[in-house]
Amino acid sequence: MRTNYCGELGLEHLDKIVTLYGWVDRRRDHGGVIFIDLRDKTGIVQIVSDPQRTPKSYKCAERLRSEYVVRVTGKVSKRPTESVNPKLATGEIEVYATEIEVLNEVRKQLPFAISSVDEENVREELRLKYRYLDLRRERMSRNLQLRHQVVKAIRRFLEDEHHFIEVETPILTKSTPEGARDYLVPSRVNEGLWYALPQSPQLFKQLLMVAGCDRYYQIARCFRDEDLRADRQPEFTQLDMEMSFMSLDEILELNEALICHVFKTVKDIDLPRPFPRLTYAEAMSRYGTDRPDTRFGLELVDVSDIVRDCGFRVFADAVKHGGIVKVLPIPQGEKISNVRIKPGGDLFKEATIAGAKGIAYIRVKEGGQIDTIGAIKDNLSSSQKQELLEKTGAKAGYLLLFAAGSFEIVNKTLDRLRLAIGRELGLIDENKINLVWITDFPMFEWNEEEKRLEALHHPFTAPHPDDLDDLPNARALAYDLVLNGVEIGGGSLRIYQKEIQEKVFATIGLSPEEARNKFGFLLEAFEYGAPPHGGIAYGLDRLVMLMAGENSIRDVIAFPKTQQACCLLTGAPSEVEEKQLQELHIVSTVKPKQE
Ligand code: AMO
Repeated sequence: MRTNYCGELGLEHLDKIVTLYGWVDRRRDHGGVIFIDLRDKTGIVQIVSDPQRTPKSYKCAERLRSEYVVRVTGKVSKRPTESVNPKLATGEIEVYATEIEVLNEVRKQLPFAISSVDEENVREELRLKYRYLDLRRERMSRNLQLRHQVVKAIRRFLEDEHHFIEVETPILTKSTPEGARDYLVPSRVNEGLWYALPQSPQLFKQLLMVAGCDRYYQIARCFRDEDLRADRQPEFTQLDMEMSFMSLDEILELNEALICHVFKTVKDIDLPRPFPRLTYAEAMSRYGTDRPDTRFGLELVDVSDIVRDCGFRVFADAVKHGGIVKVLPIPQGEKISNVRIKPGGDLFKEATIAGAKGIAYIRVKEGGQIDTIGAIKDNLSSSQKQELLEKTGAKAGYLLLFAAGSFEIVNKTLDRLRLAIGRELGLIDENKINLVWITDFPMFEWNEEEKRLEALHHPFTAPHPDDLDDLPNARALAYDLVLNGVEIGGGSLRIYQKEIQEKVFATIGLSPEEARNKFGFLLEAFEYGAPPHGGIAYGLDRLVMLMAGENSIRDVIAFPKTQQACCLLTGAPSEVEEKQLQELHIVSTVKPKQE
C-alpha cells in the first residue's frame, strides 16, 4: 500500500517507514552508493541504497534504469547538511530503501529524456507522437495540474457561490452560425443527412434560458474547422456561461469576480478591480486592434487630418479614397535602422504581411529637425511637420512609422509593428497581468466577397438600444475580455424580442424563410416567453496557457492536434474502410495516391 506521494515528503516525516510508487527519474552510482530520484505526479524524492545499510534493496537498485516503474519501501532520513538540495521541495530528506521492487521495465530506447535535469529541446512532433512520455515531464505535468486547478476554481465559484448549474449540450447537432467551417458527421440512419459538431453551445444555452434554467455553465468542447495557429485548435474547450435577468454591467462584474477568484485561488494573485474598459472604436484608434496588449504604450496616432492635403501622394490619396494615415511613434528610434524599414527589411516584411505596400518614416533630430526618406521630406510643409510633431508628441530621437491606406490594413500593419517593436525594445513587462474589456463592438461588418453585411459576433447579439434607428451602423451590446493581448473570452446580451431579431436578420440579408430554416427552433422558442438574457464564453485553453506562461495552447491540452489538424499519437484523421463509407451513404471523390 502506498503511504505517501514522493513530492510531499519532508522533515515532518523523519524516521517514518514509507512505501512509494513511481518512475525512476535518474539513477546515480556514487562509488557503491546508489541514488535514485523517484518521481510521481507530485514531484521527486531521493532514494538511497548501499550494500552496508540496505543490502536487500541494493541488488535491485543496481539494475534500475531511467523510467523503470518501481515500488520502494524505506525510512525517511535527514540528509547530511552538505547534500541538502534547496532546489528540490523534498531536498532536506532522503529515503533509505529497505526494499525495491521493479514493477515494470523500459523495453525500448526512450525517444527523449524525461527527467527535467536532462531537459532538452525536443522537437514538438516527437513530443506529440509520444505524448504520454511528454506528459510525464515536469513542465507538462505541471500544466495539466494547473488546468485542473483552474477548472476546479471555476466550478466552485459558479456552483457554490453563484447558483450556476452545469448542463451538457449535444455534440451531434445542427450547424450553428459562428462563422467558422463546421465539422460534419454523416447520419447512417437518416440517409443523406448530416450532423454538425458544435462550434459552441450558443443556441442550446439560449434555449436553456427559455427553459428557465436561469444560470447555466458548461466546460464545453467546441469544434471549428479553421486555419490553426498557436492559440487555435480544431477542438478546444470553452467555459461557456449564460444568465437571465442580468444587465450588461452585472454580467461584467460577475465575470470580473470569477477571473479574480481563479487567479487568487490558483496563483495567489490579487487582480485589481474593476477591469478597465475600452470601446472598440477607442481600441482600434489607439492600438489598431480589438485585442490590445495594454502592458506597454507605443500608442498609434491618426494624422489623416494633417496630411490630407500634403504633397506626398501616398498619404493624400489614401485619405482622398476614404482611407486613413496613422503613425506609430517610437521613442528610442535610433535602435531601429533604416535598412529594416526599407524593402527587404524585417519590419517592412512585417508590414507587407498585414497587406501594406510599405512603410514611410520620419526621424526627429535635435532641435525638431526631421529626416525622412526622399518623398515625404520634400512634400510636407513646415507647418505640417510641426503639427505632426505636436500631435504625435515626438521629440528628438523619435522614429515615426507611417502607414497609409484602408482602415483595416493601416491598423493591422501598425498593430503588428507595435507588437514586434514593443517586444524588441523590451517594453513588455512579462510579470504584468493586464485585463481589459472591449465593449461597443459594431453589430455588423462588411463581407466583401458576398457583398453584404454580416454579424460580427453572431446574429443573436442585441443591438445597443440607442442605435435601433440605424441598425447597419449600430453598436452591439457585446464584450470581449482581453488578457495581455490575447482574446480570452467574448459574449453579449442577446436579442429576446421577435421584432428586433427579424430586423437583424433582414440587415444581414437573411429572408424570414431562410431564418426559419436555419434557426426556426430558436425563433419558435422565443415566442413562448424568452427572458432577457446574455452570456459569455472563455477559451479555457487560452486562459490556462497564459496562466502557465506558455506560448501555445498545445502545451496545456493533453492530446492536441498539429497545425495540420492531425493527432500524431493516434494517427487521426485516417482512412476508413469502404464498407463504413457505404453504410454512411458516402462516396469519396478523392483519387487514391499513386504509389
Ligand atoms: P467566440 O467565438 O468568441 O464566442 O469564442 C469564445 C472564446 O473561445 C476561444 N476560441 C478558441 N480557442 C481555441 N481555439 C479556437 N479555434 C478558438 N476559437 C475561439 C477564444 C474566444 O474568446 N458563443 C460565443 C460566446 C457567447 O456569445 O456567449 C462564442 O463562441 O478565447
